[in-house]
Amino acid sequence: GVYEVTLFKNGKLIDGDAHLDRLFRSLREMKIEHDFSKDVLVKMQLDLFKKNSMPEGCCYIQVTRGSTNRIPNFPQDLTPTINATVSLAKKLTEEEFENGVSIMTHEDIRWKRCDIKSVALFASSFVNQKAKDSGFNDAIFVRDGVVTEGSFANAFIADNNGTLITKAPDNLILCGITRNRMIDIARANGIKVEERNFDVAEMLAAKEVFLTSSSLILRPVTRIDGEAIGSGKAGDVAKKLAG
Ligand code: PDD
Repeated sequence: GVYEVTLFKNGKLIDGDAHLDRLFRSLREMKIEHDFSKDVLVKMQLDLFKKNSMPEGCCYIQVTRGSTNRIPNFPQDLTPTINATVSLAKKLTEEEFENGVSIMTHEDIRWKRCDIKSVALFASSFVNQKAKDSGFNDAIFVRDGVVTEGSFANAFIADNNGTLITKAPDNLILCGITRNRMIDIARANGIKVEERNFDVAEMLAAKEVFLTSSSLILRPVTRIDGEAIGSGKAGDVAKKLAG
């Protein structure tokens, strides 16, 4: 199965179209056949907020291949199952934003199709839990020396010249909708953006590190493996992008 998490604010799904484009791409990559349109899914999400009298929140929408007997390959002619729920969105307080999060680096033990937003999240939740059990807030994955992304978010660094750097999209990361939005906002504000690999040493030496995701938008990372990043507080680039 595949899923999306979309924020809802002021009666609108934030980047709703981009989330559904990515959901349809995930379905294609997983070879899950379906005949529903984007409009049906937009209506489903909006109706859920309405029915629950929620002016804002988060919508989780999941599409699984469908129900049938257990076989080792893809069953044919299945009707996919859609499951959608809404919940309150967690917002960072000013203090939480300013103090940032403490993260642990961890080997990227996920499969090599992280570009698909699949519900097979064991490796991500296993490492996220391990980080929490070890006294960190979250984890950032490292594969063959390259920083890929957070357990449930994209990773950015800002160097001493204020250049923003994030991994170019490939099969090893999820190309985040918030990631793309932040790149656009940065460029519109005259901030130079490089989409390229970086390693842990470059990340530790960065002036700023932050994570982006639809639900939490932008989380400054102020400690990594016990070492302070930059000033140890949220940086200027993070503040500018978070608005
Ligand atoms: N996760 N990378 C991973 C592995 C993710 O799970 C997510 C999002 C992102 C950020 O993508 P976006 O900006 O499109 O939300 C990157 C969602 C929020 C979740 O699983 O709850």
